[in-house]
Amino acid sequence: MHIHKYEKLWLIFGVGSLILFLVILAIGAFYKEIHPPSHMDTIDPKNVQEHESFKEENLGLRQVGENEYIVNVLSSGFYYDLGKDENDKAVNTIRIPVGAKVLFQTTSTDVVHGFQIAGTNVNMMVEPGHISTLETVMQKPGTYTLLCNEYCGSGHHYMAATVEVFE
Ligand code: CUA
Repeated sequence: MHIHKYEKLWLIFGVGSLILFLVILAIGAFYKEIHPPSHMDTIDPKNVQEHESFKEENLGLRQVGENEYIVNVLSSGFYYDLGKDENDKAVNTIRIPVGAKVLFQTTSTDVVHGFQIAGTNVNMMVEPGHISTLETVMQKPGTYTLLCNEYCGSGHHYMAATVEVFE
């Protein structure tokens, strides 16, 4: 059977493109699992309490050093779980002294959420199965809003908490 010269060229080009495409796809799938470094820790989203940081009693603000804090938060539709106060009421405001070093740790129990403290450099994507962490120093006193900047469902815009940085 005689194949026209150009037909043959196009055939080679076509098969070549297909192979190239598959190679790129394979590299993408196996080698470039792109996640920010803060997403290296994994967690079972259906059983977050198994992780020390997200046990009920460890949620919210915890002082870990002279001027060092950890804030553990469960991000869920449609609220941030910051633990309970002494009256067993859900905490919705955390108060941090200005200049304090703070490590924020959060994970999602359901879908992708955002974790942004407007007006600061705190801005993370929260994915189920991953722990997002960010360390920062609260530089300026004020009242900030922790909000979800990833659309996560009907109650997305209710998903917020307050962060007070005091002198
Ligand atoms: Cu959570 Cu939007």
